[in-house]
Amino acid sequence: MKVAIIMGSTSDLEVMSGAFGILEGFGIEFEKRVISAHRTPELMFEYTKGLKDRGFGVVIAGAGGAAHLAGVAAGLTTLPVIAVPMATKNLGGLDSLLSMVQMPTGIPVATVAIGGAKNAAILAAEILALGDKAVSEKLDAYREAQAEKIRNTVI
Ligand code: RP5
Repeated sequence: MKVAIIMGSTSDLEVMSGAFGILEGFGIEFEKRVISAHRTPELMFEYTKGLKDRGFGVVIAGAGGAAHLAGVAAGLTTLPVIAVPMATKNLGGLDSLLSMVQMPTGIPVATVAIGGAKNAAILAAEILALGDKAVSEKLDAYREAQAEKIRNTVI
């Protein structure tokens, strides 16, 4: 299954691109789109509603400020939605984080750290790995390589 990566603005692209390489490394197909819950609400509805039929398994949504992108996506689909709060100039990203994490009961969003696009991609891979042995094995290898790097670190 594929991962849909949506972001509220091209200004989110640099941070969100952290997810691209991770998914590529796990051999997971993904699509990336700029869609805004506020600026393009009709497109948000149409795009999110079509995801299941188009073979997507997880949504990653990155946005900043009054960051409603992930929450609105979660309201439109029962696919798992992972939120990436963007750091912001005035409030440091706490605004983004709180907008994303404080979802009402019944509409969950899994929120990662501010700027945590790479972890969002790893979490998406872990979800898809439940039904994909190849991805599961790649995740095991990734973890082992990470541990091995630390074990081999001499300071
Ligand atoms: C949000 O507002 C976007 O996700 C972005 O993080 C923030 C600022 O957007 P721009 O004004 O840079 O387009 O919708």
